[in-house]
Amino acid sequence: MTQLSSNEVPSMGRRQFMNLLTFGTATGVALGALYPVANYFMPLRAGGGGGGTSAKDELGNPVTKTGWLASHQAGDRSLVQGLKGDPTYLIVNSEGEIGEFGLNAICTHLGCVVPWDSGANKFICPCHGSQYDTNGKVVRGPAPLSLALAHVDVDDDAVLVKQWSETDFRTNENPWWA
Ligand code: FES
Repeated sequence: MTQLSSNEVPSMGRRQFMNLLTFGTATGVALGALYPVANYFMPLRAGGGGGGTSAKDELGNPVTKTGWLASHQAGDRSLVQGLKGDPTYLIVNSEGEIGEFGLNAICTHLGCVVPWDSGANKFICPCHGSQYDTNGKVVRGPAPLSLALAHVDVDDDAVLVKQWSETDFRTNENPWWA
């Protein structure tokens, strides 16, 4: 009486299978959703021997030195995604190499992204007119502080961005962003 009829056994098997499938899919979706959150709290990914996070272009592809210098000349200041995805300027120095520091493009006044004006040789904020020199040092307010620095390293052609926690060489003060 309590035994299952022969056609119920495969039915239970199917249900369990469907449950497993649903659970697996839900778990996959949940883990997928959590990945960026977990990623945010992880320490910076190692990008070779020296660590750091790889600079990314506007499409999210890692920036390489070879690729960057093929299309960016000496004096160029162009944006990549740097630490925590912040817009960060890579600087091509007068020797045609990627400079050892980058500049966080977020204006220290109210957070607009500050464009580089190659004609004026300055970063000029379109929001309230703050200006920063070629190294991101503030030269006109209302911005109260210079643009934040980041280290830029090239490791096996990969361009890496790292936290700058030492003295700000432009002001000889402790970095306000660290
Ligand atoms: Fe840049 Fe106000 S946000 S000057």
